[in-house]
Amino acid sequence: MTESNAPKGLEGVIAAETVLSYVNGTEGILEYLGIPIDQLATKSTFEEVAFLLWHKRLPKAAELKDFTAQLRAHYTLPTPVKELLQNIPPKTAPMHVLRTAVSYLASFDETPDDISPEGLREKGMRLVCQMPAIVAYFDRARKKLPLVDPDPDLNIAGNILYMINGEAPDETMARALDVCLILHADHGLNASTFTSRVICSTMSSVYGAVTGGIAALHGQLHGGANERVMYMLREIGSADNVTKYLDEAMATKKKIMGFGHRVYKTLDPRATFLKAFAKDLADSTGNHDLYELSTMVEEVMTARVGSKGIYPNVDFYSATTYKSIGIEIDMFTPMFAISRVTGWVGHILEQNEANRIMRPRAAYIGPHNAPYVPFDER
Ligand code: ACO
Repeated sequence: MTESNAPKGLEGVIAAETVLSYVNGTEGILEYLGIPIDQLATKSTFEEVAFLLWHKRLPKAAELKDFTAQLRAHYTLPTPVKELLQNIPPKTAPMHVLRTAVSYLASFDETPDDISPEGLREKGMRLVCQMPAIVAYFDRARKKLPLVDPDPDLNIAGNILYMINGEAPDETMARALDVCLILHADHGLNASTFTSRVICSTMSSVYGAVTGGIAALHGQLHGGANERVMYMLREIGSADNVTKYLDEAMATKKKIMGFGHRVYKTLDPRATFLKAFAKDLADSTGNHDLYELSTMVEEVMTARVGSKGIYPNVDFYSATTYKSIGIEIDMFTPMFAISRVTGWVGHILEQNEANRIMRPRAAYIGPHNAPYVPFDER
């Protein structure tokens, strides 16, 4: 007898309660603490969104000023971590580098296992400020370029561009990246957030939970899709190849990257926002053709599988956006991670408020009383 009625991929299972983000997959709504995502993307900043997710309310002006100053005091990476980044083989994918270096950061924290709310927020600050430095230092180290230290006068988005490019960031590009960071910050119980909550439910450290979150985000069915969208667009190459490419791919049951979502069965509101946002950015940076190609892919996909509820997700137009900002393809998912760490830390704080270890069961479907067969009889 078995008890195997487990929903595949935990579909529809409610595994936690949250007030951080509301995801309505039929109407295409995303809110952080009840505030619609497009309001935040047009009016807020990534720093303010981090405060919102960690304190569950918008800061007053003086609080945001103080919070921002505290963040900037955490920009500097411990020297041994910087050295590690210069010694990692240059061909390593930046997401592997990020995971390794975040785990190593625990060694330079006097209280890595402090999971008090104050301790978690302080570690959250370290992480959201030092993950950009990790990614940027590695990118320059692998290209044998001199490393560029963070500038405490810049916000997180501006600093990312400054440390990667080694020159003062263009304001429009820095704001565009800031908007991307806002849009990716939290999204209900997605795979990486669930991973982080499971890890912290054992009372493990935030470093462990975030390292696990990064590993989960890396996969191509989750955050890793944004990089694959760009490889796919390159492979498609031109407008006259779109239909042929997509039809052939779908005939072989290949997943089209940047499309489909477990929760959204209509347009992902982040994709709706990014589509409009990416247009101007692409036009002004010479990426008009890439944008046009993306809209054609969306058109053909909508005609083929829109009726099945398959539409662009956040990763689809974020690829064009990152490309227009000048981010390298294998740095797209790290940008996502730099943003999502605010959500992971928010969920870790929330999980710890009323923690119980996450311990579901598996329905055993194997044999019983199986004989232990000696080697010579196997
Ligand atoms: N391309 C083509 N067909 C698709 C796609 C896609 N991208 N996504 C789903 N489908 C089809 C499936 O083939 C399946 O069809 P069938 O019923 O005829 O067999 C049906 O839609 C349901 O798909 P599932 O894979 O069961 O959906 P699930 O909820 O398990 O997966 C996921 C969701 C992983 C996002 C999936 O849509 C996918 O692989 N998309 C591509 C990768 C991607 O863009 N991931 C990023 C998601 S957003 C994020 O994590 C930030």
